[in-house]
Amino acid sequence: MDDKTLKQKFCELYGDGEVRLFAAAGRVNLIGEHIDYCGGLVLPAALELRCTIAARKNCTKKWRLAATTTSLTAEFDLEKIGEYKDLKWGNYQAGVAYIMQNDGFDLTGLDLLYDCTVPFGSGLSSSAAIEVATAFMISAFSGESGGKTANLTEIAVYGKRAENEYCGVSCGIMDQFASSRGKSGNAILLDCATLKFDYVPLKLGDCELVIANSNKPHSLVASKYNERRSECESALAVLSPALGVRSLAEITPEMFETSGEKLLSGKVKDRARHVVYECDRVKRAVTALKTGDMPLFGKLLNESHYSLRDLYEVTGAELDALSDGARSSSGCLGSRMTGGGFGGSTVSLVKKDKVDAFIRETSAKYRAAVGYEATFYTAAVSDGAREVL
Ligand code: GLA
Repeated sequence: MDDKTLKQKFCELYGDGEVRLFAAAGRVNLIGEHIDYCGGLVLPAALELRCTIAARKNCTKKWRLAATTTSLTAEFDLEKIGEYKDLKWGNYQAGVAYIMQNDGFDLTGLDLLYDCTVPFGSGLSSSAAIEVATAFMISAFSGESGGKTANLTEIAVYGKRAENEYCGVSCGIMDQFASSRGKSGNAILLDCATLKFDYVPLKLGDCELVIANSNKPHSLVASKYNERRSECESALAVLSPALGVRSLAEITPEMFETSGEKLLSGKVKDRARHVVYECDRVKRAVTALKTGDMPLFGKLLNESHYSLRDLYEVTGAELDALSDGARSSSGCLGSRMTGGGFGGSTVSLVKKDKVDAFIRETSAKYRAAVGYEATFYTAAVSDGAREVL
């Protein structure tokens, strides 16, 4: 919803007066999947789809929360913020408030209306957008009253900690970092081991990115995400002493083939192979972007998907049907699942003048394969966390 309408809705709900808006972005990951928690380089970009919070101090010790996308509401007593777990709605907000309060932020009573245009379950990080917008807002209000503040990297880390420590998902830092530090027209090349990052201009020549939501809900909590993470830890426990590395991301394909792979077996070997080669693909993809080599960039997207399908086993029938359909449609140079997988979205590199035909054809193939529709977005790459002035 546009900013003016959101402010109006807020006033209808809580009464007239000044309203402030805080926003953070959803994200698409271009390449570097399931390697953030292995210390790898990832290449996400922030989207125009975002979470915006309309907020006003209410002179109490409570947060009252509502949303434009659900009729569910929540109310938190800030003196008992750690007690609000397993809510029908509001867990991410409670988690961020809890973690930041424990870390010394001064929480003030607020009336809040959340407007999240990132579709839930789309794999485009609606949860990170909510967490990061909430953390940004807490820092802004705390700073104004002379309390502690956080920079954009710290805000991303608070979002991740809320998800890890409060919501029970062992996610990495990629989503919250992109949601917080995103920059219009750029992807972020993030080193997840050090949190050092560079912006990479998204110069796609005669191509653009098309995102397709499979409409098969993606749920990290319900999925095998945490299991994949522990399989990677098992691989590292063997390879770290043998190869002298601190993370799977430090292993090159050559090291893996000559010394690493014979030490592993079964699924753990497959998972490690995915991580090693996906890390290498990110570096090659950045070179392809910098040199404008779109065919190579597209080919790497395809290889990433095949590896996530065959070695990491996180795609599923819907994402396979959607990316297969995309690959054989007009103007497509490459297509892959993006995000955690097990449902969610794909990202495809498509010739600009073929986008309409691409969407028409991919859409028909997907409907024929799974019996329902996908939703398409041309990906406007946008800024991360901010106060909307
Ligand atoms: C989810 C997690 C991220 C990352 C991706 C897979 O989106 O939140 O930390 O692990 O899956 O790349």
